[in-house]
Amino acid sequence: MLAKKVAAKQESLLEPAAPQWANAEQVYLPMMPTPLASQPSPYIRVSWLQRPYGKVRSVKAASLHNGEEIFFRLEWNDPEKNDILTDSTFPDGAALLFPMGSDAPILTMGDKTHPVNAWHWRADLAEHGRNNVAHGLGSTVLSEKSHITCRASWDNGGWPWYTGVWRVVFCRPLSLPDQAAEAIQLKPGQEVRFGVAVWQGQNAERAGIKAFSQKWQRMMIEA
Ligand code: HEM
Repeated sequence: MLAKKVAAKQESLLEPAAPQWANAEQVYLPMMPTPLASQPSPYIRVSWLQRPYGKVRSVKAASLHNGEEIFFRLEWNDPEKNDILTDSTFPDGAALLFPMGSDAPILTMGDKTHPVNAWHWRADLAEHGRNNVAHGLGSTVLSEKSHITCRASWDNGGWPWYTGVWRVVFCRPLSLPDQAAEAIQLKPGQEVRFGVAVWQGQNAERAGIKAFSQKWQRMMIEA
């Protein structure tokens, strides 16, 4: 996949329907439920045993950059918009995962010596994207600071299927010198790998209960 360079400002590229997205290279990522046996919490392993999860089975991903900021647009079908967090309702969500060094296992969200950086959008948090670092399952740390901005739209998908579709754009400066230890550093001409996770709020999916792309997707940031 190629993240093409375009001459456009953050305000336009953040829009999921911005015309530039029509010319972006788009990949189709098959998604699978995270393995139940890998969930670090015994309570989660038991309580989800008979409950299907990881309901979103495919995501379309595209990326653009403007020399300063990089943008990812994720698109997937979800019949219902869930954007409220209460004791009993959970918001839809999506995240991108990047190995911070040369490699890291995607199946375990990294490991002790191979950290991963996650950019996390939640439907209840408006444009505030969250930054996380993980060194393996059960080790996710939410950063105090985040330079991730998100903009999302949900519509009913239109005729003839009316399946419902989320489109979410993530935006972040390519380079973040003040967050070198907790955020991947990017630059034009670099090849990166990324993975995707999606939580379906309607199904009470959260934390480790979600759908994910099992393989790293390679991407070149156009020089
Ligand atoms: C591309 C793949 C993945 C991405 C983008 C991703 C992203 C994330 C994010 C953003 C969080 C924080 C959630 C929050 O604060 O609400 C999280 C938590 C978590 N994830 Fe993943 N994840 C991925 C793969 C996996 C896999 C394969 C598992 C296997 C079971 C897993 C298990 C967990 C668990 C248990 C948590 C709870 C926090 C913790 O225990 O560290 N994730 N993930």
